[in-house]
Amino acid sequence: MNAPARINSALNVRDQFPAIENWHYLDSAATAQKPQAVIDAITEAYARDYATVHRGVYQRSSEMTGRYEDARAAASGLIGGQANEVVFTRGATEAINLVARSLPKEGRTRVLLSRLEHHSNIVPWQLAGYEVDAAPLTDDGQVNLDAAEALLTEEHRVVALAHVSNVLGSVLDAKRAAEIAHSKGALLLLDGCQAVPRMPVDVAAFGADFYAFSAHKLYGPTGIGALWGRADVLNSLPPWQGGGSMIDRVTFEETTYLDAPMRFEAGTPHIVGAIGLHAAVDWIGKLGLDAVHAHECALVAETRSKLSNIPGVTLYGPEDSAGIVSFNVDGVHAHDTATILDDAGVAVRAGHHCAQPLMDWLGVAATARASFAAHSDSSDIDALVRGIEQVKRIFG
Ligand SMILES: Cc1ncc(COP(=O)(O)O)c(C=O)c1O
Repeated sequence: MNAPARINSALNVRDQFPAIENWHYLDSAATAQKPQAVIDAITEAYARDYATVHRGVYQRSSEMTGRYEDARAAASGLIGGQANEVVFTRGATEAINLVARSLPKEGRTRVLLSRLEHHSNIVPWQLAGYEVDAAPLTDDGQVNLDAAEALLTEEHRVVALAHVSNVLGSVLDAKRAAEIAHSKGALLLLDGCQAVPRMPVDVAAFGADFYAFSAHKLYGPTGIGALWGRADVLNSLPPWQGGGSMIDRVTFEETTYLDAPMRFEAGTPHIVGAIGLHAAVDWIGKLGLDAVHAHECALVAETRSKLSNIPGVTLYGPEDSAGIVSFNVDGVHAHDTATILDDAGVAVRAGHHCAQPLMDWLGVAATARASFAAHSDSSDIDALVRGIEQVKRIFG
């Protein structure tokens, strides 16, 4: 294989991230560092513009309400949806729980997942009383959609799949997944946590029914995320939590509810979280998700090429993974690898990555995972390689 070109921060945004000075942060799949634009938006929202939303009649509150709703439109627009199709949640986990808990089963009691799902896309379905089937993976760690198609029956209410695997970086053929789900009358939920920060997403083009993501993986704040759902589908779901803001009229005899998305947002929402998310959407929008995707693919190619030249390093996942490379050093536990890398100023995640069924499939207890972001460059990969060489020296 020809050595891929070095990636000298082609996007040129590293100096916008105050928290990664002198640090090789390769754990963006866990949570992304924040650019100054997002930090500033959050600070100003608390320090200058703060007020409640959807309640106050005073000027500041109505301005905040406008900004909160603008954030909703921006979050939905980022993935090709309409403004009224996004429900703000605490994150992707809560978004998937919302669907699992509130979608009427209509006599269908099964859900079809895959073996690479994050626990957030397994446990909510179990808790909601679904019987779970899991599609196998191809040898290089992609969801085997032919096998998924063969497994799908009219007992399945939902097909729920990661758009991008948080461990292997495998990218799902979302359009085909939608066609398969719909062929048996099931709905398609895509867990977009790892896709949204890494590539352009268009839910309408895919034909998805639900799409879930978290702001903190998209350079935004923690504590907020989005459930996108087609307006007609969302409006067919009953509310799942009750309280203020989601009602039309309350009496002791009966309560009626607002339309989606408000009927799913009981209580005072994460107002400043939404503003931070909007700033993150604007920030990544200016950069361009096509450019981010190309940048991260180049980083993956460089990493895979360099790590595959180190004897005793096992790489997992497909060659063309999106921004994520999992690996192990033979005979060394991933936690030891990550600890030595930490000493070398390189932050990687080690463990099961909330994907224990995938670890079982890989036949390992854990992997080390390097995950990239817009600010990553070849200096991060060089530091990773030096760190792995040190791991090998220490463990002989
Ligand atoms: C693929 C995937 N799904 C779901 C989640 C859960 O996201 P959150 O913890 O932000 O709700 C994660 C987080 O790691 C993820 O990577």
